[in-house]
Order: sequence, then C-alpha cells, then structure tokens
Amino acid sequence: MNKKLQLAALALSCTALLAPAQAETTIEIKTDPSGAKIEPAIFGQFAEHLGQCIYGGIWVGEDSSIPNTRGIRNDVIEALKELQVPVIRWPGGCFADEYHWKNGIGPQESRPKMINTNWGGVVEDNSFGTHEFLDLCELVGAEPYICGNVGSGSVQEMAEWVEYMTSNEDSPMANLRRQNGRDQAWKIPYFGVGNESWGCGGSMRPEYYADLYRRFSTFVKNYSGNSVYKIASGSNADDYNWTEVLMERARWQMNGLSLHYYTIPTGDWGKKGSATDFGEDQWFSTLQRTLYMDEVITDHSQIMDEYDPEKRVGLMIDEWGIWTDVEPGTNPGFLYQQNSLRDALVAGININIFIAHADRVKMTNIAQMINVLQTMLLTKDDQMVKTPTFYAFKMLNVHQGATELNIEVDTDDYSFNGESIPAVTAAASRNVQGQINISLCNLNPNEAQDVTISLPQTPAGNIRGTILTSDEITAHNTFENPDKVKPEVFNGASVQGNTVTVKLPAKSLVVLSLP
Ligand code: AHR
Repeated sequence: MNKKLQLAALALSCTALLAPAQAETTIEIKTDPSGAKIEPAIFGQFAEHLGQCIYGGIWVGEDSSIPNTRGIRNDVIEALKELQVPVIRWPGGCFADEYHWKNGIGPQESRPKMINTNWGGVVEDNSFGTHEFLDLCELVGAEPYICGNVGSGSVQEMAEWVEYMTSNEDSPMANLRRQNGRDQAWKIPYFGVGNESWGCGGSMRPEYYADLYRRFSTFVKNYSGNSVYKIASGSNADDYNWTEVLMERARWQMNGLSLHYYTIPTGDWGKKGSATDFGEDQWFSTLQRTLYMDEVITDHSQIMDEYDPEKRVGLMIDEWGIWTDVEPGTNPGFLYQQNSLRDALVAGININIFIAHADRVKMTNIAQMINVLQTMLLTKDDQMVKTPTFYAFKMLNVHQGATELNIEVDTDDYSFNGESIPAVTAAASRNVQGQINISLCNLNPNEAQDVTISLPQTPAGNIRGTILTSDEITAHNTFENPDKVKPEVFNGASVQGNTVTVKLPAKSLVVLSLP
C-alpha cells in the first residue's frame, strides 16, 4: 500500500473508532394471529370546565367578534375536524361531580351561576351546557361521552339527564328538551357514572363506590333506541385494589371501567417540572414514566382477565397525558401548559402502548383538548396554535379503526445517568384497504436508529413516510412562531422485498405507510 493509501486507511479506521456505534432496532411484523380492532375511540379527547378549555377555547358566545358557529369558535371546529376526533368526554373531570345539568339548559340569561370550586374558584355562568356541548360534537363529527354526577348529585338527577338527552317519547324530560329548542333526541353512546370517586368525586372507598355505582347505573336507561355503554369510575394509576373490588362487585352492571394515569416529569406532584425549560434529565424521566403506562395497563388487565376472561368490559383510560407546572404567570388553577416535541413523543409512546393492548383498551381520552394540560390547541383571543401533540395525533390517526398487527421489537437501550429505557417503541396496523401503517418513536435525543422491519409479505407499492422532530428537545409552537414543530415528508425509509430499512432520526416520531 502506498503512503497516501495507508494514511487514508488509518484515517478511516480512526473515524470508525471515534464514531458512536450505530444504534440498531429490528422489528418483526406478523399477521398471524392478527390482533384486535383498534377502536377509533382510543384517539378520544377530554374537555372539562377548567381554565380556558371551554370558555375562550371552545365557547366564545354568538356575539363574539371571534368567528363562530352558534357560539363555538370556527377555527377550533375546523382543527378538530382535521383531527377526526372520534369522541369527546365532558363536562369533567372533577367538575363533573359538582355539575348540575339543569343549570346549563334553557335561555342563557336565566341560567344560574355556580363557583367552580375545583378550578380556580371562578364563577361558572353555565352558558356552555348540554345543548352547546352536543352541538360541538355534531359540528366536529365526534361522539359524546358524558360524565354524570355521583359525588354531589342524585340518582334522579342522573336518570333525568339521560332521559332529557335520549328520549323521543312524550315524556317530561323529552318535552323539556323540546321546549329548549331541540326536537330530536341525541344519541349518547357513552355515559360515565362519576369521576375519580376515590378523590375529588367523593373520597370513597371502592366497596362503597361499587355499591353506589350499581345503584346509579341501574337508572341510566336506554331510551328510544339509544344504547348506553356505562363506564364506572376507575383506579388512580396503579391502585390495583380499586379495580379488583369494582370487578368483583359491579362488573355485571358495567360495560367499561376507567383508569387515570398522568405522566409527571419529575414524579413529584409538588414540583412537576417545566413544560419547555428542561434538560435531558427530565426528557428521560418523562419518557420513562410514560412507558410505565404499559405496566399499569398490563396489571389492571390481568385483574380484569380473572373476572372477565372474555374481555367484555373495556378498560377506558379516560384521562392521560403529561402534567407539568403551569406556564409562569398564569392562574395555577387553570392548568395551562405549553406543549413541546417531548409531548409529541409522550403521545406517540402512549398510543403505541394502547394499540398493543387493543384487546382490552376500548377508549382513551387525552387530557385535555384545548388550553389545558397536554393539549391539542392553544388559543389566545382570536389566535389559535396547533401543538406538537395535535400533529402527533394527526399522524397516528392512520391506526384509527384498523386491525392491530402483532409485532416484536428488539431495540437498543437509551441510557441516561445509569438508567435505561428502550430506544424505540413501535406499533403496526392494517386498515380496511389493506394498507399497513407503522408508527415509530425514537426516544433517544442524541442518536439515530437503524431500524430493520420485516413485513409479512412484499408490499405492492411504494413506502410513504411522515416525520415529526425538531432541532431541540424543548421545541414548541407559539403564537409568534406557530410552525416550529410540524410534520414533514420523511424520505428515510426504503423497501427491498419484504424488508423495510429506516434511518430513524433522534427524538422523532415517524409514521410509515405501505403501499
Ligand atoms: O384533568 C384534570 C383533572 O385531573 C381532572 O379534573 C381530574 O379527574 C383529574 O384529577
């Protein structure tokens, strides 16, 4: 070898030694046995009377200068339609157990006011009530999921609400609805009997709530062809005893049992961590705590399996998402937080987990839809910004209603400060048109992954991809710079035979479609 070549070879081998080892992931997608249907409701939303979720975020009133349809913001309607929101949970949350629905019907000017004791102690004027919420659902094409008041309400109040919304008979509540301008009953597919009954919903023991649930739910009736899927208030994260008691004592009265699990970046409710000002330590701990969702679902499902091996009762994760400290300078009771690329990864990881449990998980509702916690949209007066979570949901929508494909993921670790989590999470599905969609999250903020995916067969066409990433882990969209984090076309995947190879960039969510 001449001198020049020798030097070149030396330089090459030094570069190889210095370059970080290329991280690798292999994924095998199987069709047999094919998995469960991924219920569209897994992509559900939650809208509570909290801060500016309803007032300002959705409802501005007919006389507002902000363009609206019967009082509901037009920009928000369009964005939610774009997101194909399948279901919206309302009116809470903690608010649900102090909400008296009759205060929210009839002429706006004569609706009684109340204090929203849970969220900032503000005066609630009840201008957004049953008719307005169900109008919103119709405008965006979402199904309503109503949460009833067990904590401070009566059985009669709950029973009459269901009759008011769903009966087409010549009955007192149906006639009251007609008097308020709505002739045709609505369909109410989902009804929750209380919320967090172990906490803000009444501080109950599971034994007591199980009996109350049985009593209240007995009077949630099916009128005029409406069929209600009744959902019991479920456990707080890994409180497995709650699920055990509810399943043992009330499973025959329920169709679904809920579960709430939030990601707290630091794990400390007193100091949760900032939404946009964090380093790799809180990036790592946030994603690590998000991955815990898998264990929580697995362990609750195991208990449910003992009582319900046929999986008749759905696990409804009707509150989830990242919960950070509020945006500095905002009302602490309003839970307003920014939303960064990290949130998009939190969404991607969770949705991948829900898909893996689609045999038991039948609905989830991210908290919350607008201006609160891990939100889709931020509004300020007449302005509106789509968050990274909005775009993550839009990309992941390809799985809505598809069939889950079983996958095996073998991935490197992403390690930080002596702790490790998987670098890549994934989910795959086949839709009714036969298209295979794969969602990939690279949790490692520093290293790309070489991903090799083996498909069940050679696809009959090209691969298409979309990516959500950014230069910084804290990147987020603001009213001044609304397009900082946005999906882009992804060209880093190619197919040969039945093998897909992907160069998966660091800190990214990628969705691939075949063909
Ligand atoms: O989403 C905010 C609150 O979190 C809900 O009102 C309550 O159910 C939960 O504790």
